[in-house]
Amino acid sequence: MAVLLRTSAAVAIALVASALPYALSQVRAAPTPSSAAELRDPSHFIGIADAPTRSVALFEEAVKVFQHPRCVNCHSASDQPRQTDRMRPHQPLVVRGADGTGAPGMACGTCHGAANADAARTPGAPRWQLAPASTALEGRSAAQICAQIKDPARNGNRDIAAILDHVATDDLVIWAWLPGAGRAPPPGTSTTFAALMRAWAETGAHCPPS
Ligand code: HEC
Ligand code: HEC
Repeated sequence: MAVLLRTSAAVAIALVASALPYALSQVRAAPTPSSAAELRDPSHFIGIADAPTRSVALFEEAVKVFQHPRCVNCHSASDQPRQTDRMRPHQPLVVRGADGTGAPGMACGTCHGAANADAARTPGAPRWQLAPASTALEGRSAAQICAQIKDPARNGNRDIAAILDHVATDDLVIWAWLPGAGRAPPPGTSTTFAALMRAWAETGAHCPPS
């Protein structure tokens, strides 16, 4: 019995030992993954010779930001903002109102100031308000987001240059990377995000297939 146990233990060890190098080689052989937690800068894509293909790859990297809760919570698909990384409906209940700044008596500015108020857990930035319904990001695919941000009828009548300017300089976009205590920023930096969008535009602003 003891001999049998020792033998099976030895077999088990031998099996693990022989499987280990294989497992390690699998880890090493895996292509560099595009994890949701990182944002690769445009230089990672220069190896893609075909410009439209590179353009799509650049957008698919940038879309990690568009689909992040810090952006989606304001660009919700309903007339209510969302909160936290779980993107739960805003508490207390607030609504879009006539111009995105909330209903009378419950305006966004009642609670949200021009800067984060960490003691009250309330995020803030200049002109804090709900994003227009036509710019909703909640539940949208990369192809849908790409199409709508290129469409002047849905993007606030912007051409590509104005979109690039917005994503590089807008207070609410910049806020996402300085979201205040207890909130995680989107991956990367606002500079890398803007650079990805610029490189996407320079390669023809192509969209992923829908
Ligand atoms: C506090 C709410 C808020 C947050 C947070 C926010 N936005 Fe917006 N966003 C708006 C509003 C309001 C507008 C419309 C402003 C205008 O048209 O001048 C807008 C407009 C835009 C536009 C131009 C319209 C369009 O969709 O083509 C883009 C692009 C955009 N936001 C991207 C982002 C990204 C990316 C993030 C996160 C990094 C973000 N926004 C975070 C409220 C927000
Ligand atoms: C009664 C106060 C109050 C009002 C009014 C209010 N908010 Fe908020 N809001 C808060 C607080 C507090 C939080 C932080 C909740 C948390 O993170 O636990 C918050 C969080 C948010 C967030 C989540 C940020 C993130 O990414 O986690 C968004 C987006 C937001 N509010 C948008 C709005 C908009 C748009 C309006 C107006 C239509 C508005 N809020 C009106 C108190 C308010």
